[in-house]
Amino acid sequence: MLGSGGREHALAWKLAQSPGCTKLYAAPGNPGIAQEAELVGLDATDHAAVIAFCQTNEIGLVVIGPEAPLVDGLADSLRAEGIPVFGPSQAAAQLEGSKGFTKDLCERAGIPTAGYVRTVSLEQATAALDRFDAPFVLKADGLAAGKGVVIAENRAEAEAALADMFGGSFGEAGAEVVIEEFMAGEEASFFALTDGTAIVPFGTAQDHKRVGDGDTGPNTGGMGAYSPAPVLTSELQAQVMREIIEPTVRTMAAEGMPYSGVLYAGLMLTDTGPRLIEYNCRFGDPECQVLMTRLESDLAKIMLACATGKLEGVTGEFADETALTVVMAAKGYPGTPVRGGAIHLRDAEGHGAKIFHAGTAMKDGQLVASGGRVLNVTATGKTVLEAQRTAYEAVGRISFPGGFCRRDIGWREVLRETEV
Ligand code: AMP
Ligand code: GLY
Repeated sequence: MLGSGGREHALAWKLAQSPGCTKLYAAPGNPGIAQEAELVGLDATDHAAVIAFCQTNEIGLVVIGPEAPLVDGLADSLRAEGIPVFGPSQAAAQLEGSKGFTKDLCERAGIPTAGYVRTVSLEQATAALDRFDAPFVLKADGLAAGKGVVIAENRAEAEAALADMFGGSFGEAGAEVVIEEFMAGEEASFFALTDGTAIVPFGTAQDHKRVGDGDTGPNTGGMGAYSPAPVLTSELQAQVMREIIEPTVRTMAAEGMPYSGVLYAGLMLTDTGPRLIEYNCRFGDPECQVLMTRLESDLAKIMLACATGKLEGVTGEFADETALTVVMAAKGYPGTPVRGGAIHLRDAEGHGAKIFHAGTAMKDGQLVASGGRVLNVTATGKTVLEAQRTAYEAVGRISFPGGFCRRDIGWREVLRETEV
């Protein structure tokens, strides 16, 4: 397994439980992943080194956690050597790697999404603003670690943001900018596994992108999440499969870019039905942590079926309960996080809570913060409220003076639960 975040800790934890997984290696991993796997110092950008490691150690399945190695074509390099890999090819990973690519695909396949224009210069983009009403949605085309989207309240703000984007603030990712129609509604995430032909729905979740309570402040990679997302009723899920996921998988295959791996659809639930905001070509982080907490099926077996084109007839079984995770981040995040702060987990785990490590490291025998998002404190419950209580009780048992977390993860759903 490649990766080192909370998502990868959750995947490693679940993979290690699979009867067919006799030995698990993780690269580069983190101190939490080290409890589940043997860590190895492999650089995912060095495809030859990854291949050599797999051949020497007779690796039966490679799981690629983050998007960067996928967009970089690591899955192609491994497949060319006959090594089974969970994750899409470089061509298929364009669904996350290029927002313009995805918008064009939606148009060809008739998938409901926001109207858009692709632009390649400041002049073109500024002129294109005429075709939209405020608020303006501006997106750097390429990977930008979740920070490539600007929602500008008025035209002046939009023009300033465009100047910034074309001025190089997102590097290569901002060489092209997609301008989109603003969609109003509630956001939810839908996951599906596919081997290019067969498709298996693989859970729903909602996350909290803003850093502050009440969904305020700057965007982050996600400050917490819960699964399932009750707003995605079974009718809506069937509609998402029919109108969004199935046409995507069909069109990608028909155009010679079969998609294999997990397809993560970010959705806007609008008055006229679910519409696609974006695709990701990997699991969400921290959405993965709550999905894996609920997953009852054998993860390694499902991923191998996905990797080898044998997904037909496979299903993913999830516990009915809610799983909720609270992200503890280092102070300063999503700006420059303060690294090196000591963490004492004490007895936080084991009262119905599970802690996944994200940006942690061991320094002189002490667990310390080494990144922005540091811990994912995860709990289950019969309701979101119950899972939330258990998770925050565990947060209360952790000593991490250099950290902070939101105090209201799951608030929308808790409000809905307590209204009835
Ligand atoms: P993305 O990286 O494409 O998921 O965008 C980041 C966030 O920006 C989303 O989670 C939404 O909150 C918001 N967003 C993106 N596109 C739109 C849109 N067309 N209309 C409204 N909000 C959007
Ligand atoms: N939590 C959002 C993401 O993983 O993209």
